[in-house]
Order: sequence, then structure tokens, then C-alpha cells
Amino acid sequence: MSLHLCNPTTFFSLPLPISASLLSLTTTPVTNYSASVPAIYRLTAPAIAYTNLSFCNITLTYTHPGQNDSIIIETWLPAASSSSNLTTNPTNPWNSRLLAVGGGGYQAGRFDLSYAGMQGGLGEGYATITTDAGLGSDTTARRWALLSEGNVNLYNLLNLGSASLGDMGLIGKEIIKAFYGKGPEYSYFNGCSQGGRQGMVLAQRFPGLFDGIVAGAPAVYWSEAMGGFQWPQVVMNEGGEWPFGCEVDAIGEEATKQCDGLDGVVDGIVQEVEGCLGVFDPFGMVGREVECAQLGGRVITITEAAAAVVNKTWHGRERVDGRKVWYGLVPGSDLTVNGSGIVATNCTEERCVGRANPLGKDWFELFVEKSSTADVSNMTHRELDRYVKATKQDFGSLLETDDTDLAEFKRQGGKLISWHGLIDQLLSPKATERYYQDVSAIVSETQEFYRHYEVPGLEHCFGGPSGNPLELLGQLRAWVEQGIAPEASPVNVTRLDGTTEARVVCPYPQKAKFDASCTGGACWTCEDAIRPPH
Ligand SMILES: *[C@@H]1O[C@H](CO)[C@@H](O)[C@H](O)[C@H]1NC(C)=O
Ligand SMILES: *[C@@H]1O[C@H](CO)[C@@H](O)[C@H](O)[C@H]1NC(C)=O
Ligand SMILES: *[C@@H]1O[C@H](CO)[C@@H](O)[C@H](O)[C@H]1NC(C)=O
Ligand SMILES: *[C@@H]1O[C@H](CO)[C@@H](O)[C@H](O)[C@H]1NC(C)=O
Ligand SMILES: *[C@@H]1O[C@H](CO)[C@@H](O)[C@H](O)[C@H]1NC(C)=O
Ligand SMILES: *[C@@H]1O[C@H](CO)[C@@H](O)[C@H](O)[C@H]1NC(C)=O
Ligand SMILES: *[C@@H]1O[C@H](CO)[C@@H](O)[C@H](O)[C@H]1NC(C)=O
Ligand SMILES: *[C@@H]1O[C@H](CO)[C@@H](O)[C@H](O)[C@H]1NC(C)=O
Ligand SMILES: *[C@@H]1O[C@H](CO)[C@@H](O)[C@H](O)[C@H]1NC(C)=O
Ligand SMILES: *[C@@H]1O[C@H](CO)[C@@H](O)[C@H](O)[C@H]1NC(C)=O
Repeated sequence: MSLHLCNPTTFFSLPLPISASLLSLTTTPVTNYSASVPAIYRLTAPAIAYTNLSFCNITLTYTHPGQNDSIIIETWLPAASSSSNLTTNPTNPWNSRLLAVGGGGYQAGRFDLSYAGMQGGLGEGYATITTDAGLGSDTTARRWALLSEGNVNLYNLLNLGSASLGDMGLIGKEIIKAFYGKGPEYSYFNGCSQGGRQGMVLAQRFPGLFDGIVAGAPAVYWSEAMGGFQWPQVVMNEGGEWPFGCEVDAIGEEATKQCDGLDGVVDGIVQEVEGCLGVFDPFGMVGREVECAQLGGRVITITEAAAAVVNKTWHGRERVDGRKVWYGLVPGSDLTVNGSGIVATNCTEERCVGRANPLGKDWFELFVEKSSTADVSNMTHRELDRYVKATKQDFGSLLETDDTDLAEFKRQGGKLISWHGLIDQLLSPKATERYYQDVSAIVSETQEFYRHYEVPGLEHCFGGPSGNPLELLGQLRAWVEQGIAPEASPVNVTRLDGTTEARVVCPYPQKAKFDASCTGGACWTCEDAIRPPH
């Protein structure tokens, strides 16, 4: 029987890193497994559906002795045939590769999106793995942030930041060796957001562990990412006015309308984001009437406060002294997300108050204030400056993920692809562009090992008029295994009329250009573009 090695005896003497001590291990043969994963949840690979797969689920819990942590690693290994030729099981062969998947928000892994990633990988024959970094599966950090009031659980942050990822790679390879009798020929990582940051950490801190990494919308420059979540709220707090969401939305929609065509194509997608800031003035909308769906269709006028917060959100965080310090979201992104975006407010019929994004709120309350009862909803500008600085000082080495020296990753043959939706409503795509530029400035011939893709019309990780880049994972594999570097990469875009169009995204600094004289569907090509340095 093909899963006969799926029992604890196989893993009896599993070698673990010196820092780790096994607490428990379960093996579960899974048969007749079916899954259907849409492309968006695979992030960088096409949709997949299958029935009747068999795999061995090896889930283990370990601790770093003395740290009082308890980390769960879950591994799914495609059933191997019982003969010594592991590639001949026609129903579900192992493809000799490892695919690790990332987390999102305050979850390191073992949540819906990581399971979708694993289901996708399994369907393609990968041995696939995820870690919870010892944090469990809550969407908030509240349960694991503090040891006691005033004392952050730094080991949990270390595990989230990097340690659990190195462990996952090393332990995953040992599990594979024990089960199949040989390690993976190639190892890959695929993740977005927190998962994108995890991918970047693997390149920065564990060169050689993964051959190929694809990192979407990575939460790198952690302290500035946190500051960015809170910045619009601080702008509103300082102004003492909190606009209705419909005012902010009306300004955003008008910007999209006016800037849409700057790239030569009217499709509801703003590609020329810098150009948009030059031609569209949010203050030009002040006094205009909008029918406010939020208020049952009541007509209200757009306030100066709405224009001001949109303007500041697009321009990015500045310090109290007026110095601009970070990048904003870009025109075209959904700032309110119907009451849960970073410019969201919480309104009655008459007035609104602020509504801080829970990711930033958790961060500043639990980790910077180190308190389970703090409330930073009314944060001032001066406080935000201090909170961001304190984040760098207290937690920089744990989470900043801003090390641009990827020389060793390159030397060991690693390949890295990052991608970022241009209408990301949480993390500025400009930050990832900055990271790419900074790597390029210090590691020669960057394009030989690292390529970055901007995806116009894509929201945070998925959503919006653009679909996900469907082949980046496949292209990464071809790059690693055959030396074929990725160039244009396909995406499907939903046009204003609801039809689907095949387009491409391009390795930075190139941009996709529409060729009006095209025939036969291949209308989009990658062209060189001038990108001003940050
Ligand atoms: C296998 O799974 C399918 C779909 O979930 C189900 O209909 C079928 O009864 C299962 N077969 C066996 C042998 O359990
Ligand atoms: C499901 O997979 C098992 C094991 O590979 C195989 O024996 C069985 O015939 C398959 N069932 C179907 C309906 O394909
Ligand atoms: C794998 O095993 C773990 C531990 O028993 C369990 O929590 C998890 O749900 C299993 N996963 C699947 C896909 O069966
Ligand atoms: C270890 O963690 C558990 C909860 O996970 C806690 O009850 C226990 O007190 C901790 N032990 C030490 C020594 O901190
Ligand atoms: C294993 O299977 C592959 C593909 O079917 C075949 O090319 C190879 O010769 C086999 N190897 C052994 C050792 O049987
Ligand atoms: C928009 O914000 C930028 C950056 O803070 C600022 O320089 C500019 O004056 C603002 N525009 C208006 C009209 O206030
Ligand atoms: C927006 O949020 C409100 C209240 O939370 C909800 O009733 C409404 O369905 C949402 N609208 C959309 C378009 O999601
Ligand atoms: C919005 O405000 C009401 C009270 O005015 C409060 O009960 C509710 O929790 C707030 N919602 C959010 C998401 O902050
Ligand atoms: C924030 O300010 C508002 C208005 O001044 C006040 O009603 C509210 O209690 C304050 N919230 C906190 C957490 O201090
Ligand atoms: C992408 O669009 C093309 C048609 O333009 C279609 O054939 C293909 O199935 C689409 N792919 C996905 C994953 O939606």
C-alpha cells in the first residue's frame, strides 16, 4: 500500500535542528482527498481542481527548550508508490520538490490561505508545508503578544519574524528524506503579505535553504508598514474631522476616472500612479455633492477634511516637522473598503469617528504600548512618530525585514520574484519598489536572481479588476531549474464591460504597453520605462 510509510516509525529518528525539541508527532494517511482552489488563492499559479488524491499528513509540535514556545509544522506528502521508483505512481506522484507556503496578518501559517496554497501544491505533486510559528490561528495577536502587562513575548515575535521559517525549511527537508528516502531536488516558497515578508526573510537570512522564492505584497519595512496603517487616522484625528466613507470613495472614484487614460487605455485601471498625483487634485472635489449610499442615499457635500485625508494618504506618512518619511497608497486603491480600510470611519447618521485598522491598532497597543488595555484610536501625530521610532528600536531586528544585501542568496543560486498589486489598499506598492531599487543599488546584476512585478489593477494579494499573476510560480521553477529567466507574465484582467482580457505584467522597471495595431490577442508587451529613484 502506497501510504505504508505514513506511520510514526518512519519519523522515529527524525533529525531536528539543535535548537528544537520534539513534543509530539502525528501521521495521518489521507485518501480520496478532493480540492478545488481558485487562482486567487494560489496567488501565483492557475486554478486547480482534483479528486481522489492520497497523501501522508505529518504534523509535529516542537519547542525551543527554555523559550516555552510550542510550534506546529504541518506537512502533506503525496503518496509515493511502494516500489523504490518514487516517480511511477500514476495517480499522485511526488514531483521531487518542496513547496512551503506563508501566512497572512498575524498568522504565520496553518490558516485558510496557507491550506489553499498547500492544496494547490499537492495537486501539482509538491510535498508541501506550513508553520504556525507557535502563534495558533487567531487573526489578532492578542492571545500571544504579551507575557504580562508591559512585557512582550519576544520569542513569539522572533518565531514570527524568522526563526520558525528556518526551522520549517530544515525540518521539512528531513521529513521528506525520512518518507521518500531522499530530500527534495528543489525547494520553493510562495506567500503574500505576511507571507511575502516571510519569503523575503528566507532570502535575507537563510540563503541556500530555498532555491526559489515568490513573495507577494511583502510586509517589509515593518515599522513603516505599521505607521502606514495608522497614518490616515492620525491625519483625521489632528484635523478633528472624520469624513463619511462615501466622500472619500467619491474622490477616489474621480481620480480613477481622470487618471485611467494616462496609460493610453481606458479600462478602469490606473497604471500611471505618479502621473495621477500630478494631474488630479483631491481638493478640486470639495463642495461637490455626492449621493451617500451609507446614509440611505442622502446627498451630502464633500468636505475639505475628506480631500485632506485622501491627499495625505496618497502622499504618505510625514513627521510632525513636515518631513516626508514613507510612501502612501496610490490613487485607484480603495481607501475605505466599505468601513474596514485604512481611511475608514465609523459613522452614525450625523457624524463619524475614526476606525483604526486592526493590524496597526494591535501592533501599537500590544507591542509598542505593551498593554492589553491600551487604546490608540485617538493617536496624535507626535505619538505616531514616537510609536514608529519605538517599533524600530524595540523590534527592528525581529521584524523589519529590510536587509537589502542579498549577495549570499544570489551566490548560492537562489532566485527571488516579488510582486505587488498597484491598488493595494493596505501596503504601499512603493515600498516593494523601494526594496527592489535598494537591492539593485548594492547587489550587482540584480536581474540575474531577483525580479519584481507590479500588477496594475490588483488589490492586496488578490481582488480588483486584475487577476493574479498566474504563472509566476511556474516561471520561478523554470528559472531555478532550467535557467529560463521570467520575462512577461500573464494576468487576466476584467474590463469595464465585464469581459476578460489576457494581459501581461512585466519585470521592473518595464511596464506593460498596449499595442493598438495588434492582431490575434497578443496586444500587451513589456517595454522599458523610466522609473525615478526613490
Ligand atoms: C471519495 O470522495 C467522493 C467525493 O468526496 C465521495 O463521493 C466518494 O464516496 C468517496 N469514495 C470513497 C471510497 O470513500
Ligand atoms: C482513487 O485512488 C485509489 C488509490 O490510488 C484508486 O485505487 C482508486 O481506483 C481511485 N478511485 C477512483 C474513482 O478513481
Ligand atoms: C493534518 O493533521 C493535523 C494534526 O492531526 C490536523 O490538525 C490537520 O487538520 C490535518 N490536515 C489534513 C488536511 O488532514
Ligand atoms: C509556558 O507557557 C504556558 C502557557 O502556554 C504557561 O502556562 C506557563 O506558565 C509558561 N511557563 C513559563 C515557565 O513561563
Ligand atoms: C523510474 O521511472 C521513470 C519514469 O517512468 C523511468 O524513466 C526510470 O527508469 C525508473 N527508474 C527505476 C530505477 O526504475
Ligand atoms: C497634499 O499633501 C502634500 C504632502 O503632504 C502637501 O505637500 C500638499 O500641500 C497637500 N495639498 C494640499 C492642497 O493641501
Ligand atoms: C458595507 O458594509 C455594510 C455594513 O457593514 C453592509 O451592510 C454592506 O452590505 C456592505 N456593502 C458592500 C458593498 O459590501
Ligand atoms: C462604531 O461605533 C459604535 C458606537 O458608536 C460602536 O459600538 C462600534 O463598536 C464601533 N465599530 C467599530 C468597528 O469600531
Ligand atoms: C477619543 O476621542 C473622542 C472624542 O474626543 C472621545 O469621545 C473618545 O472617548 C476618545 N477615545 C479614547 C479611547 O480615548
Ligand atoms: C484567462 O483568460 C483567457 C481568455 O482571455 C482564458 O482562456 C483563460 O481561461 C483565463 N484564465 C484564467 C485562469 O482565468
